[in-house]
Amino acid sequence: MDTPQMGIAARLAAKMSMAEQHEYLRSKVTRRRVVLGGMATAGTVAASGLLGGVAQAQSPAPSLLTRPATDHHVDGALVAPFGRHLQFGADPKSQFTVSWQVPLAVRRPFVRIGLAPWSLSHRIEAEVRALHTPQLLNSKLPAVDQYYLHVRLDGLRAGTTYYYGVGHEGFDPATTAAFGTIGSFTTAPAHSEPFTFTAFGDQGVSYHALANDSLILAQNPAFHLHAGDICYADPDGSGQQSDSADYDARTWDSFLAQTESVSARVPWMVTTGNHDMEAWYSPNGYGGQEARWTLPGNGHDPKNQPGAYSFVYGNTAVVALDANDVSYEIPANYGITGGKQTAWLDRTLAGYRGRHDIDFLVVFFHHCAYSTTNSHASDGGVQTEWVPIFDKYQVDLVINGHNHVYERTDAIRKGEVSHAVPIGETTRPATDGTVYITAGGAGRSLYSFPAPDTFEGSEHPVDTVTTWHSAKGGAHVVDTVTWSRVRYTGYSFVSIDVQPGRPGRESTLTVSAIAETGERIDHFTVARRTS
Ligand SMILES: [Fe+2]
Ligand SMILES: [Fe+2]
Repeated sequence: MDTPQMGIAARLAAKMSMAEQHEYLRSKVTRRRVVLGGMATAGTVAASGLLGGVAQAQSPAPSLLTRPATDHHVDGALVAPFGRHLQFGADPKSQFTVSWQVPLAVRRPFVRIGLAPWSLSHRIEAEVRALHTPQLLNSKLPAVDQYYLHVRLDGLRAGTTYYYGVGHEGFDPATTAAFGTIGSFTTAPAHSEPFTFTAFGDQGVSYHALANDSLILAQNPAFHLHAGDICYADPDGSGQQSDSADYDARTWDSFLAQTESVSARVPWMVTTGNHDMEAWYSPNGYGGQEARWTLPGNGHDPKNQPGAYSFVYGNTAVVALDANDVSYEIPANYGITGGKQTAWLDRTLAGYRGRHDIDFLVVFFHHCAYSTTNSHASDGGVQTEWVPIFDKYQVDLVINGHNHVYERTDAIRKGEVSHAVPIGETTRPATDGTVYITAGGAGRSLYSFPAPDTFEGSEHPVDTVTTWHSAKGGAHVVDTVTWSRVRYTGYSFVSIDVQPGRPGRESTLTVSAIAETGERIDHFTVARRTS
């Protein structure tokens, strides 16, 4: 993995933080043009005049991106937008971001939106985030220029379906020729009502990834959670300097095109895995993410850690975390927030748990609190720094990726099984503990378990599984565990039906794991008394 050209010993490289790798790459790679803070600032749009909402300024764009080598614009009639991906703002009732990509630089990109596809608004100017990736160290891949476009919409009406079209000078979705490109999205309801959401992690670009997307679309989810290791432009994911030799920014293009069938109509809410630390763009490795996504931006430090945020949809609060901050296994960004993300998590869960209009707390992030695979197993950093907080606030469901399988625990408290949750059973986190799901079977090559698969329709339970967790410094500590309730080696995702209850009765999350084949491989219910 090390070469004289890199001029750095592999052992040293393995210990470099993401910031040190970034500095090293920047010092070694000849670049034609780098502009700090060189971004357009349009694209922050209040829909007030258009749709009767309230105007509100948004935070400025991220500060460290590279501008492409040329500002050459093509004839806009020659290119069509692709890779549309929707994201919630901090308030899904009134804030959405429409994002997309164009293959070449275009002039005056914009969105039109409206309450009917034949009645769209004037052009709302988009923010252009151009991203230049040079030929990196030891890489045979060419330099790449990418153009991401974003429009933040504010002041939308709750529970309302909007139609939208994206375009640029020479390509207008309001014209007959491009009318077929118009999409739609629906804002969160003003009051609690039943809905479905879906989740997985570790997708990449593959036949299996596409098959899972198709099944997800059929669930008609209100939103989708992607628990990191999003596209594998960095196929190594070791968090080490040597990753740059294989880094291929163009994988993002393929990924966004693959994802568009869902993400053009379903908010596609991502967080950050180990493969999503990309050293070239910024000291924390998240500069590429800042260009490609516009996440809610309400975490402890959204400018530097966009993958930590939260939102409320109906009676459910969702918290996204950047587990690179606490991972003992892959420590390139370990401790990057100095504990601030963890303090924010505590504050955020406390706030949500204290609200009478919120029943369920769902937390998702990449590295596993509890998994038994032979590849990554459990991360002691997550167990040490976050699990006590999940216990403290009786978190209703934790969803992880990182291990490329489906695995589901019994209810756990203080690291031990506190309540058995066989397939089909109901658990009550207020008294029983928290169930942890690993949903890393979205599309990348699968891992193996040290014990037999056991899932709905093919149950082969064992009393204990011998596995391990990563200790600080990376050592594997052997564990013999009793919490591994469901194991499935196959491509899959989770679909969660949320049913609010009447006051004094129970609200429920009905969690189903669905295989790429369409077969259900697990289901259970999470219940909580409605306040
Ligand atoms: Fe992965
Ligand atoms: Fe991972």
